[in-house]
Amino acid sequence: MERFVIKGGKPLSGEIEVRGSKNAASKLMIASLLTSEECLIENMPFSADVDITRELCATVGSEISFDNYHRCVIKTLQINNALVSELSRKNRIPILALGPLLHRNGQAEVPVLGGCPIGHRPINLHLESLTKMGIRIERRPYSYFAEAPHGIKGTEIELSYPSVGATENILLTSVRAEGTTIIRGAAVEPEIINLIEMLKQMGAQIFYDNSSRYMEINGVRNLHGVKIRVIPDRNEIVSFAAAALATDGDILIRHIQEEYLISFLDVIRKMGGSFEKTRDGIRFFGKKPYRAVQIETASHPGFMTDWQQPVSVILTEATGESIIHETVYEDRFGYMKDLRAMGAAVHVTDECLGDPCRFQNQTFNHSVRIIGPTALRGRELEMTDIRAGMAHIIAALSAEGESLISGIEHVDRGYETIDERLRVLGADINRVNS
Ligand code: EPU
Repeated sequence: MERFVIKGGKPLSGEIEVRGSKNAASKLMIASLLTSEECLIENMPFSADVDITRELCATVGSEISFDNYHRCVIKTLQINNALVSELSRKNRIPILALGPLLHRNGQAEVPVLGGCPIGHRPINLHLESLTKMGIRIERRPYSYFAEAPHGIKGTEIELSYPSVGATENILLTSVRAEGTTIIRGAAVEPEIINLIEMLKQMGAQIFYDNSSRYMEINGVRNLHGVKIRVIPDRNEIVSFAAAALATDGDILIRHIQEEYLISFLDVIRKMGGSFEKTRDGIRFFGKKPYRAVQIETASHPGFMTDWQQPVSVILTEATGESIIHETVYEDRFGYMKDLRAMGAAVHVTDECLGDPCRFQNQTFNHSVRIIGPTALRGRELEMTDIRAGMAHIIAALSAEGESLISGIEHVDRGYETIDERLRVLGADINRVNS
């Protein structure tokens, strides 16, 4: 079993280059299944999550190669096998392959979903939308089997929640459907816009308006090859920025797309953290104690649910009572018990500490009060998901003493060689076998 040993208390400083977005990269690989021509995807992160998607694509018939410059060439001349139920259930990507596989093969079968244990994570919106497009989906013990006996037809879909995955699934299915598909209430995360740009360059006809969450897709018969670049990973940027602030450090993060970070930068400003735009990126720096803030997670352009974990560590060092109200996932505060064990004063509750959300009057612990400042102490920790795992790492980096962290396969799924890259910034972090 691999673990991280981290000796905390050292300010991180230096420059770091952000990798391509894990949550965009896999979707672009799935989009490539829509054509028999070659696709070149640049800025691919080398994370375990991308490996899982690579395994899926290779199983259905893609020829894939990666080079040392983070480029991926993927070509799926034909689908050899669209029934891939036997694959691992380690991430939530396979359900997005249903549409592309149906268009290429007429039938498809993908494994039931995996992914981080952060709530119930239903896929009713995916299934309802695809069904409305004429796809018949059968739930089997370990898979979803799908076929479209009368073809895949454009239709009007109103999403009751702007689900990222459901929006992507509709896009990937509608681009080659017969007729026009309209999505109202669509998610408009930057990773989705990255996917739309790829599909448009492949020949898809997509019109979208972010502010009204409206998308219109005119189906086309065929799509062709493309060269596309994965956008920078917003979650990596926030993680490195939080590591800088939590350790009284100073990090320049290169190659940032600032427009995707507005709600994060607002919070940093309110906390009294500092950032400075430079020609190459954004420099994050600061000195404890920070000021307490109130945060509500939301879909884009709101404060992202994947950011609350790294930021919560900085809030343990902020003066006063901070609040995080998680409105995207119902069960994303499991890691708070570990911050408490390290010395933080945190109190989770099932109340909505903010505007009432869809988890109101239920029993989900989806809000937390963090009272600071408190000093964290190193200890043994176990990661259970990617983003909470990043909170563990940042907490250990800012704590006094040594931490031993297990379950590190979770961060390896989402962050490329995180230990090596943190070491370059001066972190005392080592991967050990024990
Ligand atoms: N939801 C439904 N029904 C559905 C789909 C979603 O009720 O059919 C609910 C979910 O249960 C959840 C909420 O809607 O409470 C948000 O789900 P969404 O579909 O928007 O998210 P996702 O596609 O499953 C992606 C990212 C997540 C990120 C969210 C929100 C990937 C592989 N995952 O998940 O990333 O938190 O969007 O931005 O792209 C992570 O990287 O650690 C991670 C969890």
